[in-house]
Amino acid sequence: MCGIVGYVGNKNATDILIEGLEKLEYRGYDSAGVAVLKEKNIELRKYKGRLSVLKENLQKDKIEGNLGIGHTRWATHGEPSDINSHPHMNSGSAIAVVHNGIIENYLTLREELINKGYEFLSETDTEVIPHLIDYYYTGDIVETVKIVVSKLEGSYALGIIDKNNPDTIIAVRKDSPLIIGIGEGENFIASDIPAILKYTRKVYILEDGEIAVITRNNIDIMKTDGTRVKKGIYDVNWNLEAAEKGGYDHFMLKEIYEQPKAIKDTISPRYKDGSINIGEFDLSKEYIDSVNKIYIVACGTAYHAGLLGKMFIEKYAKIPVVVDVASEFRYGSPFIDENTLMIVVSQSGETADTLAALRLAKERGAKVMAVTNVVGSSISRESDYVFYTWAGPEIAVASTKAYTTQLVSLALIGIDMALKKGTIEETEAHKILEEIRKLPSQVELVLKNVEDIKDIASHVYKSKDVFFIGRGIDYYVSMEGSLKLKEVSYTHSEAMAAGELKHGTLALIDEGIPVIALATQDKLFDKMISNIKEVKSRGAYVIAIAKENNEKIEKTVDKVIYISEAIDELTAVISVVPLQLLAYYVALNRGCDIDKPKNLAKSVTVE
Ligand code: F6R
Repeated sequence: MCGIVGYVGNKNATDILIEGLEKLEYRGYDSAGVAVLKEKNIELRKYKGRLSVLKENLQKDKIEGNLGIGHTRWATHGEPSDINSHPHMNSGSAIAVVHNGIIENYLTLREELINKGYEFLSETDTEVIPHLIDYYYTGDIVETVKIVVSKLEGSYALGIIDKNNPDTIIAVRKDSPLIIGIGEGENFIASDIPAILKYTRKVYILEDGEIAVITRNNIDIMKTDGTRVKKGIYDVNWNLEAAEKGGYDHFMLKEIYEQPKAIKDTISPRYKDGSINIGEFDLSKEYIDSVNKIYIVACGTAYHAGLLGKMFIEKYAKIPVVVDVASEFRYGSPFIDENTLMIVVSQSGETADTLAALRLAKERGAKVMAVTNVVGSSISRESDYVFYTWAGPEIAVASTKAYTTQLVSLALIGIDMALKKGTIEETEAHKILEEIRKLPSQVELVLKNVEDIKDIASHVYKSKDVFFIGRGIDYYVSMEGSLKLKEVSYTHSEAMAAGELKHGTLALIDEGIPVIALATQDKLFDKMISNIKEVKSRGAYVIAIAKENNEKIEKTVDKVIYISEAIDELTAVISVVPLQLLAYYVALNRGCDIDKPKNLAKSVTVE
């Protein structure tokens, strides 16, 4: 939520800030702004709307300067408007601040500042920060920022400039991501790596409670108590092209097509001589034997992947698993102790609710394993074990390749646990592993079948409501298919366990309503056919997803998309792909802004 960027060097700061914001627009895109130091003054430009609005205005009204900060916003406090856009400044226009996160005690701080005579222009939580800096200003900006952050509750990544320190950017973070790009004669700050990758591959990842003082030739990092921090440099090992559209019309489509590679890259390093070698960590047999329950906690798409993780771990490792959405988890009464393992699943590694669940588990003595896509993310740093999904950067707001790589990761984790516990025969584990290795080419086959999906989309896009049904794993995949359709095409959609339809939802099925019926589970196939007949006989237009040897389904449905023969446990990785493509092409037919759906943002760093 919200992207921040900062530059100090000898180039034109405005151009670099805009380039950086273009790479961060996935984090929020309802308004954007920059503050650039020009000669001795801070020049501010900020507008409601996409980054292009800011860009057009800056073309007419250029700001020349070598130091500045920029922001792309996903509104939390105050509607999207020019005034609520960042940066925010103090009344004397000496200090400018960009912020990602939420200041939870801002109302109290705001009231205190108003009582001291400060005037607020915006409705944002952020605006308290420049006024607080103004109020506590000691003449030393670093000391002042230390005082100010001690007053803040909530989450923040901040970029701060002060016209009295015209060569310095201050960066500070708590619970929101921030990196520092290390250049030659220039330095950068950003919420995420793609923003600075054109200029450098060397970064520092700022930790909670650290302040960085950045000039063009120097970066000082310290804790808020003043202790110096010596940090290792993280060398980014992927290219800028990985974060560009590469000829595709949208990132979402590119990322769907990247899945064979992403799955392969996730599996290959863990496969050694016919067996699993997780590599990054080794869960000992002793430890696995001591685990008597597992919580898988995640949000949205990652939660849907977690459901499949439960299936794998319970079936093969015989450990009870509870899967919960992170925003609910903490408010129940979870049974967590030192014999609990929590697995958090998160593409970004920054999702606030997931992070909070992780911290709760650790406080109560549990170990935490992260399945995440972002090296150096908060979740990866705070977990005891990290299993990376090597999907490469995922830019489209709708998650696709992260989901399929999460599925294969959880399958590998489940089999690894089962082997250690001795709850699976080695021969069976090898058989499953061989099936996992076939997945990239099986996904490739679905991608070749795109014309059929485009054809179905050209029918489905006219519908106001779409239902997804399935049983077992197919139900979990239905949930993901339905979410994808909702978020990118704004079509109302529901996923139902097929056997539940007749307990209420069947009343909604009318003539012509599209029902996407997943029927890939051998042991549930006949039961699914009965459920399909229930909707068909009420007029539904049924599109089935089935394995290629089940052609008899054609008699019962209107259209079928076939996927390769695969063991039931692994079909999700293949069957979700036509659903992703369907969501994409329905959205395209409806003229939606596919990579940046309305009201959403990629990295959800607020609770
Ligand atoms: C949907 C989607 C979201 C995310 C969710 C969790 O396409 O992307 O539902 O899955 O916001 O995000 P991460 O995985 O970053 O924790």
